[in-house]
Amino acid sequence: MAATIIDGKALAAKCKARIKEEVEHLSKRPGLAVIIVGDNPASRIYVNHKKKDCAECGIYSEEYALPECARQEELLELIDLLNGREDIDGILVQLPLPAQFDEKAVLNAIDPGKDVDCFHPYNVGQLMIGEHTFLPCTPAGVMAMLDEYGIDPAGKHAVVVGRSNIVGKPQAMLLLQRHATVTICHSRTPNLAEITRQADILVAAVGKTGLITADMVNEGAAVIDVAMNRNEEGKLCGDVDFEAVKEKASFITPVPGGVGPMTRVMLLENTLTAAKVHGK
Ligand code: GUN
Repeated sequence: MAATIIDGKALAAKCKARIKEEVEHLSKRPGLAVIIVGDNPASRIYVNHKKKDCAECGIYSEEYALPECARQEELLELIDLLNGREDIDGILVQLPLPAQFDEKAVLNAIDPGKDVDCFHPYNVGQLMIGEHTFLPCTPAGVMAMLDEYGIDPAGKHAVVVGRSNIVGKPQAMLLLQRHATVTICHSRTPNLAEITRQADILVAAVGKTGLITADMVNEGAAVIDVAMNRNEEGKLCGDVDFEAVKEKASFITPVPGGVGPMTRVMLLENTLTAAKVHGK
């Protein structure tokens, strides 16, 4: 039987309406500062999306666009200034940064209470022990999709393909916290198909078009495709062979229109959370 298509766009619209309503009931509006360095075209698109999303939900946002040749000290000074501002609840430095930057030092400079990406080691540690304030946007978006469609990870075998700090590792942790048995696979996993075939919930987060083919998916699995790749024709696609896998899976996310819109929403959610923590 063909899978239910998980509609990330529709769920994101529903979440945004709720966030907008919550924002309207705060004593002061939340504020997000977005910093972009250089002129990476993909980063420019992401930052524009973030500003648009904020405006739609009544969240104040401001953008700082630093030139490609900006220095680390300049960026650290800006972060320091934003850390001290009461009207700014969240600070996001768009990645990747140009080569002259020490990315780790930059992310560590953000006040953990304003770290709406959930990249600061303090927040990563809090997530690890189940004491989080913020959740990383993409994994949190995936969990919201599972919840919306009644897919309970408890007692299931969840297989996460990909081990990045931003997606794979925190995704595995969130699934574990919801009582799944979790396996993390990666580029050195020799028997990938053998493991993915055991998955009740399969999360693909590698960035390799066509990585997950139908023979790698268990009949009835829920398949979540986190990747955003471009195929040879320049069309957006994920890691999963969508057309073939949807005939085997019970649930599947499309690309585009799946995880992407939910990632965007979770940034708004974290900014709202930060504003509440800041007493707004
Ligand atoms: N670049 C690509 N994805 C992200 C993200 O989620 N946050 C930031 N800060 N930069 C990114």
